[in-house]
Amino acid sequence: MTYTCIETYMPRPRVGAIKLHRPDVLNALSLQTMIELVDAFSAFDSDPEIRCIVLHGSEKAFAAGADISEMTDATTVTMLERDQFARWERIRQTKTPVIAAVSGYALGGGCELAMVCDMIVASDTAQFGQPEINIGVMPGAGGTQRLTRAVGKALAMEMVLTGRPISAQQALQAGLVNRVVPVQWYLEEAYALAEEVASKAPIASRLAKESVLKSFSTTLEVGMEFERKNFYLLFATDDQKEGMAAFIEKRKAQWKGK
Ligand code: HXC
Repeated sequence: MTYTCIETYMPRPRVGAIKLHRPDVLNALSLQTMIELVDAFSAFDSDPEIRCIVLHGSEKAFAAGADISEMTDATTVTMLERDQFARWERIRQTKTPVIAAVSGYALGGGCELAMVCDMIVASDTAQFGQPEINIGVMPGAGGTQRLTRAVGKALAMEMVLTGRPISAQQALQAGLVNRVVPVQWYLEEAYALAEEVASKAPIASRLAKESVLKSFSTTLEVGMEFERKNFYLLFATDDQKEGMAAFIEKRKAQWKGK
């Protein structure tokens, strides 16, 4: 697929990066952007060379939300037919760990897109918000669900009902982001974190990610069983043998991803 709204590249060995690139509209997430994003995520996800993905926008905007110009005249029927927000679920199904590097605006769908990712590295200029209430609607892709799980009811309710954004520091305090760094380094920081994740045994990474995510959708009992089975499953991999042998032999493990 030829991309017009995003760019993809490899900033480090084994790290795939996706850049949202609609600078004229602060990376507003159009239908075409979502189609391209799903394609890029699935291409990286099926490439065994890629062990971690970084998603970012520009310094000014990660993404200022879903593209309002595409929704102005929409009806319930057209929204249902397009069902473009179901595409977010396809991004959530990415097995490779994903890091969002967020600078500037992460609003509405932009905040929701960052929250679909597994970790968030924020620049000190980042702001996170769910301003949909200001345009007569409400969040539609995780702003009432993932945000609430991440920051708790009090702050989520305030953000959703007032539409007021929070700063990067507030987001850090609330547990929404992993770290905040000066804007000039935020991408480097995300690449470095991605490189660290990418250096681990890839099948273990994928199953570990899957198990953490499972905790959001199931009971503790079922989640514990799921975790245990994934743990046992890893004993069928060469990397488990290699990792444990390398520890005993006091050398660095050489992962095969098998
Ligand atoms: C379409 C957008 C846009 C958006 C900005 N633009 N956000 N276009 N959809 N979400 C466009 C503007 O129209 C403008 O185009 C250009 O980007 C620059 O924006 P300005 O408003 O001039 O910039 P600024 O004054 O710096 O204000 C930045 C801003 C503001 C505070 C981020 O743009 C803003 O409030 N944007 C909307 C944020 C929002 O409501 N997001 C939620 C969308 S609904 P022109 O042509 O005039 O230069 C949503 C629902 C999600 O996300 C549901 C599930 C996914």
